[in-house]
Amino acid sequence: MSKFLLEFSYLIGSVTFILGLKMLGSPDRARKGNLLAAAGMILAIAGTVLFHEKDGQPIGNIPWILAAMGIGTIIGWLMAMKVKMTAMPQMVSFFNGMGGACAAIISLVEYHSHPEGSAGYLLIVFLGLVIGSVSFTGSIVAFGKLDEKIKDFGGRYLTFLNLGLLALIFIILGIAVVNPDMLGGSALWILLALSSLYGILFVLPIGGADMPVVISLLNSFTGMAAAFGGFLYHNQVMLTGGILVGSAGTILTVLMCKAMNRSLLNVIIGSFGGGASGISASGDQVVREISLSDAAILCAYAGKVCIVPGYGLAVAQAQHVCHELEKKLEDKGVEVYYAIHPVAGRMPGHMNVLLAEADVPYPKLLEMEEANPNLPNTDVVIVVGANDVVNPAAETDPGSPIYGMPVLKVWDAKNTIVLKRSMRAGYAGIENELFFLPKTKMLFGDAKDTLQKLVSELKDL
Ligand code: TAP
Repeated sequence: MSKFLLEFSYLIGSVTFILGLKMLGSPDRARKGNLLAAAGMILAIAGTVLFHEKDGQPIGNIPWILAAMGIGTIIGWLMAMKVKMTAMPQMVSFFNGMGGACAAIISLVEYHSHPEGSAGYLLIVFLGLVIGSVSFTGSIVAFGKLDEKIKDFGGRYLTFLNLGLLALIFIILGIAVVNPDMLGGSALWILLALSSLYGILFVLPIGGADMPVVISLLNSFTGMAAAFGGFLYHNQVMLTGGILVGSAGTILTVLMCKAMNRSLLNVIIGSFGGGASGISASGDQVVREISLSDAAILCAYAGKVCIVPGYGLAVAQAQHVCHELEKKLEDKGVEVYYAIHPVAGRMPGHMNVLLAEADVPYPKLLEMEEANPNLPNTDVVIVVGANDVVNPAAETDPGSPIYGMPVLKVWDAKNTIVLKRSMRAGYAGIENELFFLPKTKMLFGDAKDTLQKLVSELKDL
């Protein structure tokens, strides 16, 4: 009976993961999807604690398990409640690192329970250890970099060092599986040390605009490592969860590579990013400013207005007032849509989440491929705290670190108004020629404050 109840709880858990993941595809149902998958996870954990048996005995250690779960829940809850929306990627990275560490610890413990296991068994143990350790140290370095505690570091030589390290890891892994007596138990510790080092060195040189790809890749690593843990414990729900995280992370990585025009191989050997060069503004370039009243008149008498949100919208928490502006313009008969770049902000779907929070109707959000052909027929583009994702250097300057990255071609529109606080660069640290184009007008100030004033101006028109 216990076996049946255990497997039934795993089946329900697995189904809720799949349904929850499917629901995450739409902002309307994403929250419910998350809760559904979390409920499935709670059920699977409860099933394991209550019904799992080892050699015919219950698993025991219940007070320890409950205490660990209690401490983890309190820490996770507090972190999630306190985190600012702009610091969400760091937190995702940190939690992902914890998942990787868990997978590596499972392998360490399992090896010591069955050091004489078959080659297949040892392969799974060592792969879980290697991938989990890379994911743990890599995610912690990514966390430090996103939090600006760790600076970009390294050059081309790291690419070769990383390739050498990877080769060494595979050779030792091969020996440890094919001829376990040769290295004995020390293989475990050598692989742990080399993989942890690789995780650090592979993320260290990656900088600027390439970071999201790395985080998503590390996420897929953690999923894979968890799936190996599922194999080791013959635990279906862990296997399903791991496969889902691993494959979702891989798909996201591929999509983001496409969005940023990076090859996956470059990500794996850590050979891109860092050292932002690119054009710099020549002293005689002119920046044209626009007053609030002129900006309001331009928008109010436009036929079609496009809003391009970026990281600055998240910093200013301007999503609600942005929605207010959209409604005000529509009241005046203006057609309004949003153009969403796939890596605008600091995490995948950052802008979609913010705008959904402000109740912006989802059909108004156009993806980049859909928005770009619309821009030449758009009278005014309002760029709210976006910079890299609207930088023409991606198309015109082969020396720029973002060259080849698809961007929103806001310069095709009849007028562009850019809302930002200063002439400072965006995340990639490069100059933006858009700000000097004759059709571009700058409206300096905090995005929320400026949008609020713009809405008041529109009310008076
Ligand atoms: P950024 O290029 O980072 O530019 C944001 C701009 O917002 C800055 O130039 C800043 O200028 C302005 N800003 C900041 N606070 C503001 C405020 N309170 N009010 C008004 N403006 C404000 O943003 P983006 O165009 O969204 O591009 C995203 C970048 O992040 C890309 O390089 C992308 O590759 C990278 N990235 C993306 C992700 C994902 S997955 N989305 C993850 C990591 C990194 P001022 O300082 O002058 O105000």
